Amino acid sequence: MQVHSNYSLRALNTFGVEAKAVRFTEINSEADLSALFAESEWKNLPRLILGGGSNMLFTADYQGLVIHMKIPGIRFERKGDDIFVSAGAGVVWNDLVNYCVDHEFAGIENLSLIPGSVGASPVQNIGAYGVELQDVFQSCRAFEIATGKIRVFSKEDCRFSYRDSVFKSELKGQYIITEVSFKLSANFNPKLSYGAITEELQKRGIVEPCIKDVSAVISHIRVSKLPDPATIGNAGSFFKNPVIPQARFEKLKTAFPEMVNFSAGEGFVKISAGWLIESCGWKGKRFGNTGTWKNQALVLVNHGGSTGSEIYAFSESIIESVNSKFGIILEREVNII
Ligand code: FAD
Ligand code: EPU
Repeated sequence: MQVHSNYSLRALNTFGVEAKAVRFTEINSEADLSALFAESEWKNLPRLILGGGSNMLFTADYQGLVIHMKIPGIRFERKGDDIFVSAGAGVVWNDLVNYCVDHEFAGIENLSLIPGSVGASPVQNIGAYGVELQDVFQSCRAFEIATGKIRVFSKEDCRFSYRDSVFKSELKGQYIITEVSFKLSANFNPKLSYGAITEELQKRGIVEPCIKDVSAVISHIRVSKLPDPATIGNAGSFFKNPVIPQARFEKLKTAFPEMVNFSAGEGFVKISAGWLIESCGWKGKRFGNTGTWKNQALVLVNHGGSTGSEIYAFSESIIESVNSKFGIILEREVNII
C-alpha cells in the first residue's frame, strides 16, 4: 500500500474544486486497513474517509491522511424470495444498482443514478424517489480505527433517519465501512408515488412497469433536474429539507400559502428547501463562478474555477436570506472539509 504526499483531490470531488491531501492512500481490502493502522505514524494523523467525493466540499487543503475507499466486489445469496446482496465499500453505487436491475433483484431501483460509493450509502442513509437506504439495508461491516476490529452493524445499530445515521453522529470518525449488505427481493413491488414517476411511465405507454422501466424513468427525471457533475461541479442537494413541528408550519402557511411541504410523520412537516431558496430569488443566480442550478435551487454549482471557500460563502448568504424571510435555518447536507 502506497502513501502519497500533497495529492490533488480535484478529480476526487464532484464539485471539482482544488484541494490537496497532505497524505493520501487507497484501500482495496480490510487487510489494507489493518496494515495501515498497524503503523502509528498513520494512526495518529487526522484522517478523512473518501468515497466518490459527491457529498463533500473542500474549503482548504486537508492537513492529514485521506483514505480513499476502493474495496471491490459484489456477491449475492438467495433464500426463497429474499436476495441478500453484499458489495464492497468501493463499488460505485450506481454500478450496484445496475447489477441488481440486470439480475431483477428488486428494492434499490428508485435509488438509480445517485453518485458515490456503496460504503458511503449508510452514512447519510441515501434516499430518493420515495425510498431510503434503510428500507433495504441488512447490515454492514466496519473497521474500528481504535481497535482494528471489524464490527457488524445491524439496521438498529445504524439508527437511520432522514439523511442521518450513527456514522454521522455518535460514531463519527470512529469506523470505516468496508462492506454493505442489502435485503432485496425476487418479487417486484414498484414504488411509484413520488413526483413525476407515474406521469413519465404513462408518457412511455407503460402500464405494468418492470424493474428496468422504473430505473430508466427515474434516471431520466434525475438527468432533467440535476446537473451532471462530469460537466458542472456540484454535490446534489447542498442543504437538507428542514423538518419543523406542524404548529409552526401552520403559522408559516398562513403567511406563505404556496410553501411546498411533505408529511414527515406524526406532528412534523418537511419543507422543500428548494422552494424556500427559490422564493428568496436564488434560483439560477450566479456570483462569479458559483451559483444555484437553473432547474433546482437546492443544488449549488461550480460553473468552473470556483474555490471551496467561495461556494461555502455563497451557501452562507443563502442561509441568511432564508432565515431572514422565513425564520428557518437551513442545515447543510454536504460535508464541509
Ligand atoms: P463522499 O462524499 O466521499 O463521503 C461522504 C461522507 O461519508 C463523508 O463524511 C465521508 O467521510 C463518509 N464516508 C465515505 N465513505 C465511507 C466509508 N467507507 N466508511 C465511513 N465513512 C465514509 N444523495 C442522496 O441521498 N440522494 C440523492 O438523490 C442524491 N443525489 C445526488 C445527485 C448528485 C448530482 C450528486 C453530486 C450527489 C447526490 N447525492 C444524493 C449525494 C451523494 O451522492 C451521496 O451522499 C453519496 O452517498 C455520497 O457518496 P460518496 O462515496 O461520494 O461519499
Ligand atoms: N422545488 C421548488 N424549487 C426548486 C426545487 C424544488 O419549488 O428549485 C419544489 C417543487 O415543488 C418540487 C419539490 O420542491 O416539486 C421537490 O423537489 P425535488 O423532487 O427535486 O426534491 P427535493 O426535495 O428538492 C430531495 C432530495 C434529493 C432527491 C430528491 C428526489 C433532499 C435534501 N434532497 O430533493 O436528494 O434526489 O428529493 O427524491 O432531501 C441529495 O440528497 O443530494 C439529493 C439530490
